[in-house]
Formats: sequence, structure tokens, C-alpha cells
Amino acid sequence: MSVRYIESKKTFMLQTRNTTYQMKISDYGYLLHLYYGERMEDEDLSYLIQLQDRGFSPNPNEAGNDRTFSLDVLPQEFSSDGCCDYRLSSIEIKNGDGSYAFVGKFVKYAIYSGKYALEGLPSLRVTEQDTADTLEIWLEDKVSQLTVVLCYCVFEEKDIITRAAMVVNQSADTIYLNRLMSVTMDFMDSEYDFIHLDGRHTMERELSRSPLSYGIQTIGSFRGASSHQHNPFAVLCDRDANEDYGRCYGFSFVYSGNFVCKVEKDQYDQARIIMGIHPKHFSFQLKSGESFTAPEVVLAYSGKGLTHLSHMYHNAYRENLCRSPLAKEMRPILINSWEAAYFNFDEKKLLEIAEAAVSMGVEMFVLDDGWFGNRNSDNAALGDWVVNTEKLPGGLKGLSDKIHNMGLKFGIWIEPEMVSEDSELYRQHPDWCLQIPSRQPSRGRFQLVLDLSRADVRDYIVESISEVLDSAKIEYVKWDMNRFITDAWSSIAEKEKQGEIYHRYILGLYDIMERIILSRPQVLFCGCCGGGGRFDPGMLYYQPQIWCSDNTDAVCRLKIQYGTSFVYPISTIESHVSVCPNEQTGRYVPMKTRGVTAMDGILGYELDSTRMTDEEKQICKEQIKKYRSYYPLIAKGDYYRLTNPYSFSQYVAWEHVSKDKREALLSLVLTEKESNDAQQYVKAKGLIPDMRYQVDGLEGSFSGQLLMSAGIPVPSSLLQYEAVQYYIRAV
Ligand code: GLA
Repeated sequence: MSVRYIESKKTFMLQTRNTTYQMKISDYGYLLHLYYGERMEDEDLSYLIQLQDRGFSPNPNEAGNDRTFSLDVLPQEFSSDGCCDYRLSSIEIKNGDGSYAFVGKFVKYAIYSGKYALEGLPSLRVTEQDTADTLEIWLEDKVSQLTVVLCYCVFEEKDIITRAAMVVNQSADTIYLNRLMSVTMDFMDSEYDFIHLDGRHTMERELSRSPLSYGIQTIGSFRGASSHQHNPFAVLCDRDANEDYGRCYGFSFVYSGNFVCKVEKDQYDQARIIMGIHPKHFSFQLKSGESFTAPEVVLAYSGKGLTHLSHMYHNAYRENLCRSPLAKEMRPILINSWEAAYFNFDEKKLLEIAEAAVSMGVEMFVLDDGWFGNRNSDNAALGDWVVNTEKLPGGLKGLSDKIHNMGLKFGIWIEPEMVSEDSELYRQHPDWCLQIPSRQPSRGRFQLVLDLSRADVRDYIVESISEVLDSAKIEYVKWDMNRFITDAWSSIAEKEKQGEIYHRYILGLYDIMERIILSRPQVLFCGCCGGGGRFDPGMLYYQPQIWCSDNTDAVCRLKIQYGTSFVYPISTIESHVSVCPNEQTGRYVPMKTRGVTAMDGILGYELDSTRMTDEEKQICKEQIKKYRSYYPLIAKGDYYRLTNPYSFSQYVAWEHVSKDKREALLSLVLTEKESNDAQQYVKAKGLIPDMRYQVDGLEGSFSGQLLMSAGIPVPSSLLQYEAVQYYIRAV
């Protein structure tokens, strides 16, 4: 079994193929964290704990005269609050007596094969290929009579450990849970860099890296969604770690709402990281006997750099996270109407776009925003999920039939979580949106957010959207969310429960996705939130692909996709070729380069195909043909970032390598061109050193070692923003 309790040492040992995680029940019953990292066969790492008298760090009462035992210094698995430990706490509760203290001590544990269940929350699943074991540890505060259950699941072959936590109120009082972190991890040193993905609308998931410094560094979202601004993912790595070298610890939160991740470097040069639901405006009422479950964090450790860390997440998310059976299949290459027509279309225009795309080899037509109610701009009709027959006289069915007659599949856009003030739904149910009494709710894109904590609102959404999806043959749905949450107040919750609304919104969202999406396994769903404002594992559980960004400029996408690739598989990143000059940046990038960049994801098109020249269509036709043949490599292979676009400006390169290493696709975009510049060489990765390979476009054959050490000359004829792709194959 990958989980063991060693009674004689009082240690818990979790082991994956290449990693070890160890904890210990210390004197007085506290659960200490001993180690996470490279696999160790030794059974007891307790000697790492060196006790010392530390002035001004308090000692628990039961330590008596022992002044060396302080929770303010010791590495813990779940930190207490209000007693002894001044560092970041895992929990904050308001007890029945008004006190804030929580001190959890070990009571019991359970080990079983398989995985713990998190009701109502997405999480990794165990597949037939996995060996997975669970450890549950109960910590109890005897005074508050509150129990915390720490859950660990070890995915042995995947080198992944998941963690979650649960709180059960066993007292007779009502208590308030103001914070419950899903993970707390202590390190006995702090020479680490903190890597995270920051950004903004149309420039999501940019890589940010900084050394730990004394005090606390924080990322998070209080926007009701995981957000464009920060992603629920962080890495702590050695200061000199790079793609191929160094210890790297990954933390990825399977949740789509408010989150926080904090790292503290303390007075003794130790580090603590916590990750969980953002405690701001969070207060969960727990009556006697009630419980609360914190979502899952997926942990991965790589002792050999960031690329390997990414591979572990890619493998686990492809195989254990995405629920859709379509996730494993080749996704249809689509053309989307948004940048082609925005709100200005009728059926004739849509059919023309589709018709022109058929000759390019496109496989699906997606009707974006504007097909329902009086939706002629973005300030009306959200909530009225009834087709606009002025634009589409035959309804969705009529359009879908015509599209299918062209040999294409058909998809639509929806935004089910929202309501426009100018809508029938809002006129009938003004209390169905989130708003605080006597305050005018703030608007975002002229729309309000529906109160998904309400069962009647959720039922309306499920019924109205199901009616639409069942009204025609619809094979793809783009599920959008175009504003963030404010005014989080529900008209049906008691005032003591208003601190639950942000989380109940997400639980409500997961409930409607469970009912709408999981009951339609044959329909491909794509997540969207003004592009990639909700690109997180929670969403990927339901929707196997997400529209990566509203920014379709191929050069900006190089950075956006680079950052995204640190944790999310390439097969989840929807990426489209659009028109040039680009509508977001005004930049001109050749059509071939737009295709090469979009092929680093789920390729699609987002332009008015009726205005394309024959030459452009021909280029796209070739792109699509190539993409189809490369798809298994791109979607199922290992991904290598060959350059860092933040520190190297001449070109951006990346590579997809098949699992058996016999095939690879190396892509490169020249981002900076000067006249008469130095010869550049791009070095491949992930090949077998003594295997011989042929490289399309180059004479002869080369050893893997040569391609990785000496590299391929970057053609000097390439001009700025031009791209080249090398298909590499073992001979
Ligand atoms: C969001 C999406 C776009 C498009 C529009 C439609 O901004 O990110 O792709 O669907 O909504 O209103």
C-alpha cells in the first residue's frame, strides 16, 4: 500500500513512485509535517525536528516546563489558531463561547484503497490504470468539540497526492467557520522562488517568479471566479530551478471561485504555504452536527525541474480530471461567429460563413452570442433563452439542419449564470440576482449575476438551457461568464448565512453543470469567462476545453499559452486563428504563424471566412490537414517549453513529443528580427539520445543527442513573426 502508519514511530508515510510524504504525531498529540520530496526508503525522518527554546514563541500548556516545544516554530500539517502559532493559520472559527481558538490534536486515522469523496465538488477520479490509496486523519479540538478531517489520496504511478479537509461541528453550539484551508505545507527552509500565473483580461496567466522574502506573499481572487488576474496554481521551487533542474512543488486548486494562496517566510527562515477558499466575506454557519468540506488541492513534486512538474499535471488532468468522454477524442475544428460578425448577423450571413469554411476543412460551425431574445448588443436579453426568430426564422433547428446539410457539426454560445436588466426574466424575477437590499447592484457589461445559491434559480437555468440544447442537433456549447461577482447577498438566506453566498454560488454552479453537462456526454462543452477568466481545474472537470483568451493576437498568445502550459494540458486550451490586423492589438502576423500558434492547443477559426482570399483559405486548409495528423502528438504527448518568452526575445519555441519518444513536433516563431543577425539554433528536448531521427525539411538523419545538444539551425530567411515547424520522426 502507498499509505502506511508506522506505530512504533508514530509516523504516516505516503509514497508515490518517486516521492515520499511523511508526518508524525508528536508529543502532546500534534500532527507535524516531516517531509515531502524525493522518494526515501528510510522509515523515520523524525530526526529532522530539532527542538530549541525559542524566546517569545509560546509553549502549549501541557508542555509544562518544556520550553522547547512551540507550535510557532514546528512544521505542522494543519496549523492551529489563536494558541501558540502566530504564522498563517489553516483555520479560523468563532466558537459558541465567542472565542476564536482552535487547537487540533490527533484522535484517529483510517487508511483504505480508493479515494475519499467530496460531495458536490469536482476532484480527481481514480481510473482503472491507477493505484490509489486514501489516508484520513482526525484532529479534534476537545474544548470546541470541533473535528477536522484531513484527507490525502496517493496516486502512486502518477506521482500525485491530493489533499482536502473537512470540519465537523460535534458541539451543541452553533459555530462560524471563517476560514478553512485545503492545504497547509511547512518547509524547514525557505530558499525558494514563488511562481504563479498573473494577468488581466486579454493577457491571462503570465508567468511571475520572485524569491521568498520575510513576511507574506499573497495571490488570490475575490471576484467570485478564479479570475484573469491570478490563477489557482502556485509553485515553490529552488532558487536555481529551471525547466530541467531543481526541486519544484506544485499546488493546484480544484475550485472555480474565490481563492487564496499565501506563502510566509518566518523568523527562522522556514516557509509555510496555504491554499484554499478566500476567507474574505466567508463565514459558514455550522449548527450542531453540521459539516463543511474544503475543495481539493492537487500536489505534485518534481526533483528535476518545471517541465517534469508540468508533465505530471498534464497527465493527471487529462486522465483523472476531465469527465467528458470526448476529452480523449480529437476535437472538431470549428469556426466561431464572434469575431466574424459579433451581433450583426442573420441566418444568411451565418450560412455564408459556414459555407466558406467548408472548403477549408473546418468541421463545425459555432454560433456565438446574439441568437436569443432581443440580444442585438451586450446590454439586453441574458436570461431569455428563446431563439430570436427575426435573425433565425427557422429557429436553432432550422439553422442546425442547414449547417448539418453542409457536412458540418453545429454549436452555440450560452451565458446561463447571468441576467440583463432589460430581459423578461429580470422583469419577472428581479430578486433572482445577487444584490444587497437598498443598494443599487453594480453592473458589469450591463449585466447582473443570478443567485445560484437558490434552488429555484438553478432549476430555471437547467430547464431553460436544456430546452435549448434539446431543440436542435447541438454538438458543442461554449459556456460563458462575462462579469465577476459583486453584491454577494441572497434574498432567501438568513443574515447569519450571507457569508456563505460566494461558496454557495460555486456549489450551485457545479450543480447546474452536473445536471446540464454531465447528463449530455455526447455534447462537447467549452468553458469561457471573457476568455480565460475561469481557467481552472474545477471547470475542466466539467468542460474538457476552455477558451484561453479573448486576445487572439498570435504573438501575445505565445506568452499566454506559455504560462497556461505550466499546469494545464495542451488538449484543454482552445486557440483560434483570427483576422489581421488583429482586432485586439492591430498587429499583423502571417496566417501561417497564426496557425502554428493556434496548433499549440485546440485549433479553431474566429474570422469572417467570406472575406478570406483563396490563398488564405488554402493556407488554412493545409494547417487543418497538418493539425489532424499531428493531433495525437499535441493532445497526448509530453510538452516541452524550449524558450522562456520573458527572458529570451529572439524566438519562442516549444515541442510536443510522443510518449514513446519516436515522434516530435517542434514549432518556432521568430519574435525579434534584426538585420544580418547571428545564427540561432533551436535545441530539441525529450528525444532518445542514441535513436536516429529524420527531420522534415532537412537532409539525412540525426541522433537524438545531436538534435538536443547541437540543435537545428533557425533559418536565417525567417522574417519577424514568421514561423517554422519541424516534424521529427525516428527512423
Ligand atoms: C466573451 C467571450 C467571447 C465572446 C463574447 C460574446 O467576451 O470571451 O469569445 O463569446 O463573450 O459576448
